[in-house]
Amino acid sequence: MTEARHSSPEAMIKTLVPSYPVYCVRPKTLREATERFLDRFHGRVLYAVKCNPHPLILKGLYDAGIRHFDTASLAEVALIRELFPDARAYFNHPVKMRAHINTAYRVYDVRHFVVDHEAELAKVIDETGGQDVDILVRMATPEAGAAFHLSAKFGATPQSCVELLQAVHKAGLRAGLAFHVGSQCVNPGAFGTALGVARDVLTAAKVELHYLDVGGGFPAAYLGVDVPPLETFFAAIEQGLKALKLRRDCVLMAEPGRILVADSCTLVTQIALRKDSRLYINDGVYHSLSETVHGGTRLPVRLIKQRGAASKQMTDFTVYGPTCDSTDVLPTPFALPDNAAEGDWIVIDRIGAYSNALSTNFNGFHPETFVEIDETAA
Ligand SMILES: Cc1ncc(COP(=O)(O)O)c(C=O)c1O
Repeated sequence: MTEARHSSPEAMIKTLVPSYPVYCVRPKTLREATERFLDRFHGRVLYAVKCNPHPLILKGLYDAGIRHFDTASLAEVALIRELFPDARAYFNHPVKMRAHINTAYRVYDVRHFVVDHEAELAKVIDETGGQDVDILVRMATPEAGAAFHLSAKFGATPQSCVELLQAVHKAGLRAGLAFHVGSQCVNPGAFGTALGVARDVLTAAKVELHYLDVGGGFPAAYLGVDVPPLETFFAAIEQGLKALKLRRDCVLMAEPGRILVADSCTLVTQIALRKDSRLYINDGVYHSLSETVHGGTRLPVRLIKQRGAASKQMTDFTVYGPTCDSTDVLPTPFALPDNAAEGDWIVIDRIGAYSNALSTNFNGFHPETFVEIDETAA
């Protein structure tokens, strides 16, 4: 459900007095982050839809110039192709159901597919007829400073990449190589390492690449993490590319999610009950805050009092989510004014990535209210 526009989360609270979680989307911040990436990355930028598929976010990205989308399910493919008929969807999940490959190709005009195994390559060729389709081989990368090591699940070994690239070439299809250094990767060197593995693969495969996809992983500035500037990641990529002998027309691609959208949302939650230094709020780990557990993410928070002024004295509060599950508790406390009380709002910033996207309906709770913040009106 989308309500109106407000000049700030504070103004929204005054108007809606919400007892339900409210996502405040910041289109201006989203546009700036997107333009920054588009301006500085010397290649094609695909937004990773899984990170935040809300239509307000997708529309903001499109308005900022994104025309390519990393889609990892048929539902995401359909969403993008129906919202933006002139945009391209890339089916970048290495494991797909046959019916989804078929429908993506025939109904939604998807022409780029990722594989990391010979059986998946056979499926894609089978379902598309092996005509007018480009195949990117997903390469595993060494673990190197990411909160989520995606190569634990996906990616072929260097030797398998060589064989897969040769098989793609033999099938008469255009080949690409893709990797993902892991999400929330704070180590720019991870890209250099991955490109070093790519260089060895290409030397052995002797197959010309039409695409090189360096994935996502660019980190957001959460609390307690040292995040190098985005430029150092791009410099590491440029440096790594120098050692690769790519065709002049090889398309360089990136698939950022988090870095584009993390700052673009603020979540307003409300305190249902206080017990000493324990706060029970209306959102939690089964809903918008699961990354606090799985990724150790720490987010900037502040209190808005329903009545009176906030105390200057701060207390560390243990924060519990709304469900009846005892694991619905945040792993790190929130530092808030020590007069936090029932009815006050906790405003959580930098929560645009992997938040609403991961929310379940568990126990009858589901944050679904989105409003826009007009940052020019503040
Ligand atoms: C294949 C692929 N591409 C891109 C992304 C986006 O990564 P990030 O949000 O870390 O930039 C992911 C995240 O899981 C992914 O699996």
